[in-house]
Amino acid sequence: MDKISPHSLSMKNESSSVAPLGASTQSRTTAQTMTFVEHLVTELINPNLRENALRVLSKRNELSRELAPLLWNSFGTIAVLLQEITSIYCTLSPPTLTLGQSTRACNVLALLQCVASHSETRMLFLNASIPLYLYPFLKTKDKSPQFEYLRLASLGVIGALVKDNTKEVLGYLILSEVIPLCLSNMEIGNEISQTAATFIIHKILFDDDGLAYVCATAERFFAVRRVLDMMFESLDKQPTPRLLKFIIPCYARLSDGRRAGIALANSLPSVFRDTIFLNHLREDPATWKWVKHLQENVEKNQEPLVEGGGENNDIMESSTSGQ
Ligand code: TRP
Repeated sequence: MDKISPHSLSMKNESSSVAPLGASTQSRTTAQTMTFVEHLVTELINPNLRENALRVLSKRNELSRELAPLLWNSFGTIAVLLQEITSIYCTLSPPTLTLGQSTRACNVLALLQCVASHSETRMLFLNASIPLYLYPFLKTKDKSPQFEYLRLASLGVIGALVKDNTKEVLGYLILSEVIPLCLSNMEIGNEISQTAATFIIHKILFDDDGLAYVCATAERFFAVRRVLDMMFESLDKQPTPRLLKFIIPCYARLSDGRRAGIALANSLPSVFRDTIFLNHLREDPATWKWVKHLQENVEKNQEPLVEGGGENNDIMESSTSGQ
């Protein structure tokens, strides 16, 4: 396990039963910090100390390597975190969630994200089906900040799971139907949520099974297409460079499927023919690479589809199982 650096040890503004550190923070040793963190983890089990422990621990990003196994292996901690999550389900519909409840749940989600990020705990997290506990949050559509924060924090957990392109993770998320949840977040979310949701879709599409799954039925393909196109629709709210970094590879990747490529070639959003927009994309070599890839596929696919000439598992086949 990596050692944490001395300047990562400062702990301010905390009012735990454990003595907070003052000016001597910088000299605190790793061992002392771990004792402090371990103590906070044990405080999670106590309903009276939990809120503060959640707040302090969720701010300690730099400790995530040490914290993840500690959260997973300590007595009752994960159960407590799940209990925190499920306790606000009743505020989702009708929407009565308060900002305070949302902040507390977001702190829980930050700790779950830490467990989801760590290679030692990621599969345990998945095998315990913990992502499913977050889906009710991702299904909400209320635009108020408390719901927006909750959705963003949940997308952060899923995003942490997919970061490494692990096949089992992607397979699990696809089968548990995370795609429509991400699409809905791309549709209703603010720019950060849209980026987080598009990042997950982009990871799925870059997996061969993920691409095959999306292109297996016309409904799925068009559902993804519609939401990607939608992000270009409002003129006053064009995607930011950060968002384009994920949107463009999604189009490029979809164009790899033969029939999907033909469907795209004939109906790309008009911005893709706008030289000002394209010149803008040139500024980021990584994004530009995907623009070129998309253009090549579009040129290849400009010919009308010859009946019966396509691959069998691609879009536009008559089987639209839609399970
Ligand atoms: N059961 C749906 C299906 O398999 C899940 C779904 C809804 C979906 N919308 C989607 C999957 C969009 C991929 C893309 O089709």
